[in-house]
Amino acid sequence: CGIFGYVGKDRDVAGLVLDGLKRLEYRGYDSWGVAVVTDEGINLTKQVGKIGDAQVNMPDSFLGFGHTRWATHGGVTDYNAHPHLDCTGRIAVIHNGIIENFSELRNKLLSQGHKLRSETDTEVVAHLLEEETKGLGSDPAGFADALRRVFMQLEGMNAVMALDSSSGVMVAAKNGSPLVLGYGEDGYYISSDASALLPHTRKVAFIADGQMLLITREGVSARDIQTGDPASLEVSQLEWSLEQAELGDYPHYLIKEIHEQPSILRSIAMTQGENATTLAEMMRASYGTFFIGCGTAANAALTGQYLFSRIARFHVNFAVGSEFGYLEHFLTPQSLVIALSQSGETIDVIEPLIKAKKEKGVQVAALVNVLGSTLYRMADFSVLLGAGPEKCVLATKSYTAKLAVLLMTAYALDGRLDEGKELVLRAADGVEELLRDGIRDKVEALAERIYDREHIFLIGRGLSYSSALEAALKIKEVTYIHAEGFAGGELKHGVIALIEQGTPCIVFAPSDETQAAILSGAQELKARGGFIIGISPKCSDVFDYWIPVADVGDASPIVNAVPAQLLAYCLSIKRGTDPDKPRNLAKSVTVK
Ligand code: G6P
Repeated sequence: CGIFGYVGKDRDVAGLVLDGLKRLEYRGYDSWGVAVVTDEGINLTKQVGKIGDAQVNMPDSFLGFGHTRWATHGGVTDYNAHPHLDCTGRIAVIHNGIIENFSELRNKLLSQGHKLRSETDTEVVAHLLEEETKGLGSDPAGFADALRRVFMQLEGMNAVMALDSSSGVMVAAKNGSPLVLGYGEDGYYISSDASALLPHTRKVAFIADGQMLLITREGVSARDIQTGDPASLEVSQLEWSLEQAELGDYPHYLIKEIHEQPSILRSIAMTQGENATTLAEMMRASYGTFFIGCGTAANAALTGQYLFSRIARFHVNFAVGSEFGYLEHFLTPQSLVIALSQSGETIDVIEPLIKAKKEKGVQVAALVNVLGSTLYRMADFSVLLGAGPEKCVLATKSYTAKLAVLLMTAYALDGRLDEGKELVLRAADGVEELLRDGIRDKVEALAERIYDREHIFLIGRGLSYSSALEAALKIKEVTYIHAEGFAGGELKHGVIALIEQGTPCIVFAPSDETQAAILSGAQELKARGGFIIGISPKCSDVFDYWIPVADVGDASPIVNAVPAQLLAYCLSIKRGTDPDKPRNLAKSVTVK
């Protein structure tokens, strides 16, 4: 979910908040809502659906916030959209996370006579605050104290914000999902994500877990939630530019971010050598290294396992984030866990890491794209990927950026960092060629042929196994076609039963030791009717359709990713789906 708030001199608070929400919408887009404080109390607008070009007609204010939702508790309805009010209408609340003991709290409130209008866990916070502020007049510090007491009753990892129309303050508390405070010239901003603050300020403070804020027109103060003692805020300067976070001339973020890859790869080759060396040293010093991540980041982590085997002959364990916790008995204080995450906020990665750190004393390193994110801050060593803001829900440039850093680290571990850098530069050229030389026409023509198919199968071996998984994920996420990636050798063990006349089968066949075997697999598919699409530096008789890619050796997963990203985009356009905000998904999933 996305949260955006403002306290300050600008009177068009609703407009400011709505604009902030539009920039955060990729975090969740089931429904949205805005609340502002006026002399008459709280004024609220909320509704189901994407914000799109919505405008709000709300009274002037100096204080307000909004929320864009990715539903957890309760269906997608106007009532369930945030903000939620208490019975008296004095207090408005927005929330990101899951309140694990919400049924218990809800039952208690119902027995006290509270009328709850939604099915959400969030609404209990508004009513708990109502209980805690009974008899409290216009008292900003008293309201903050009430939130502190309420927050301590909540179980789970949450970020909560509340507006008090009596004292005219905004308060925030968190022990999970991200919140960033922005220091503007005319007021204070608060956002789930630093990139939404760029139009207003670059001066920010990332709120730490266990901290809370009291924000008024006069200033901001931070406190420790447990002790109530004053806490300090560490101010940072954002390096991202506003242009990086905007569409520019592109029709969609997906295609914009695909096109940014060559320059990002070049800058990684030039700037990440030192980080790759440090990571390599940490790996060498550890006894057992784990790569973990979710979704696209998991596919990058799996590629990493193969890269380290091939290039550095170094054993790395791989697990998807949500399964990693179940392997805890493998961990010792000598273990190194390298977590991969674009947002640095994915709860399925963060939660097991916190446990592994606390209970097993493991070392944590992170490959992360967002400065100040939870993972960035909790890791003993963080590599900031430098891919710039990634707005499309589909991860593209952050994926190839992770692959480039992993590749350089594997080479660094083998004492050949310069070769690694050279390969990343070759991959950057390869990607640029793909994007320049009419590949789009080829991919569009392919999309035209296969856009109405029910199934697409993708195969790869070795380094290209994860390319097949990632390409399938891209297609599934944005087209809703059933696309499945498989290890080429597994085909004959069941999958092949699914192949029918004309079934599209995408085959990754780089010029490496997998080529002969993967082409045999392609023959087996073709013999059963498969329509074979080859992604390879070399054409083969078995291909019915060939997408040429540069031969870049161990960097083949980087160039292989690009035709698949483009295909997902073209299929999405053809099928009329939203390339940037596919149904049911959110960019950053901060709940379990
Ligand atoms: C969500 C997104 C995916 C993403 C995954 C991991 O599920 O929809 O696109 O790959 O989270 O995100 P992270 O920010 O940890 O890389």
